[in-house]
Amino acid sequence: MTDDRQPKAPVMPADAIETVMLTSAQIRERVAELARTIDHDYEGRDPLLIFVMKGALLFVADLMRELRGNFRLDFMIVSSYGSGTETSGSVRIVADLKSDIHGQDVLVVEDIVDSGLTLTALLDYLRLHSPASIEICTLLSKPSRRRVEVDCRYVGFEIEDRFVVGYGLDFDERYRGLPDIAVLKTPLTAGME
Ligand code: IMP
Repeated sequence: MTDDRQPKAPVMPADAIETVMLTSAQIRERVAELARTIDHDYEGRDPLLIFVMKGALLFVADLMRELRGNFRLDFMIVSSYGSGTETSGSVRIVADLKSDIHGQDVLVVEDIVDSGLTLTALLDYLRLHSPASIEICTLLSKPSRRRVEVDCRYVGFEIEDRFVVGYGLDFDERYRGLPDIAVLKTPLTAGME
């Protein structure tokens, strides 16, 4: 008989994963550090965290648990136009914010900034609503892939140009539940980078 009280960890699919890039322990430690910095920077303010579904879901959940300040939460679902994983720079707002961000301190929480096109389009859209301030917190950044400059105030890890999955990040909607961030074996991602 199985014990349902035991936490379930997704099994790392050894045949699909080339290497673990960041372990869950490394991620946990860095998320706590980011939360301390963000708490310090936003002290005495009433900021709104906006996370981008679905990739940033696990990150924002852990970040919020580490934050001491009373952050409000909202989310958006965006889908970027383009072929394969190459974004074109136009985004479609699939689900918009519930909150009115006029005059608000906004912190956008992303999973990964790659070319920077999606985030640039999203920021242009959010700025139309005149927030008091707008900053970006991304767990991962691939600086070598950047096609437009994006000023990310908070970056968890700068990583090399590899396609990664886990901790919310997917490949074709799979692997989001992995506790680590891992590099997929190349045949799976051939033509994707
Ligand atoms: P950008 O517009 O090129 O910066 O695209 C950013 C989006 O592409 C992210 O929010 C992810 O959804 C996706 N993405 C970019 N690199 C990766 C990766 O290595 N693994 C999973 N998704 C990625």
